[in-house]
Amino acid sequence: MLVAATDTTSATSVWAMTTLIKNPRVMRKVQEEIWNTGVKKGFLGEDDIQNFPYLKAVIKETLRLYLPAPLLVPRESREKCIISGYDIPAKTIVYVNAWAIQRDRNVWKNSEEFYPERFLESSINFIGQDFELIPFGAGRRICPGMSMAVASLELILANLLNSFDWKLPHGSVKEDIDTEMLPGITQHKKNPLCLVANIHI
Ligand code: HEM
Repeated sequence: MLVAATDTTSATSVWAMTTLIKNPRVMRKVQEEIWNTGVKKGFLGEDDIQNFPYLKAVIKETLRLYLPAPLLVPRESREKCIISGYDIPAKTIVYVNAWAIQRDRNVWKNSEEFYPERFLESSINFIGQDFELIPFGAGRRICPGMSMAVASLELILANLLNSFDWKLPHGSVKEDIDTEMLPGITQHKKNPLCLVANIHI
């Protein structure tokens, strides 16, 4: 429970900041959304976040490209079945490659591009009904912590982006920030993300 909750949420927060710093257009747009709502208070709460549709789209797009559990959790088939003409015997271990599904260029336009706008006009959601976006899995064993994960990610990112103006360390360019991953069940960034936080007044 602890690993499923904390490791995934922290990995996703780092991926979100990584991809935002590599995409200054999106970073600017999401910060303008937060800064221009007139909310000046120090800490943003869940009510404030309901006014940030672009931030929600940024989180969805992060979970599309950098889902922390790329192969979800292994399953075992209970009985023999046929999928797309292939015979699957009972008791076969099944891995769902959600990573490949969520980057499938037959499904997603410019699938490798970080483009949160794709979710603004679309009803696609990660709640297990749209099989092209399943970072939390689907069906009866879908992640039971999904609501808490989304609420946490929204609070973490909204407050990081509201309070600070994020910059690359002196002398670095966005191309220096890599997206290499560590091996493991949860997909973490291999090299630590190092950014400069300037307090936003
Ligand atoms: C970005 C954050 C998270 C992601 C992407 C995520 C993703 C997943 C995935 C893909 C599974 C497997 C689902 C399946 O078998 O189809 C899972 C299971 C699970 N998750 Fe999450 N999770 C996240 C956050 C959380 C949080 C915050 C909690 C608890 C508060 C949590 C608790 C669990 C538990 C207990 C399971 C195992 C459920 C079972 O045994 O059936 N997760 N999660």
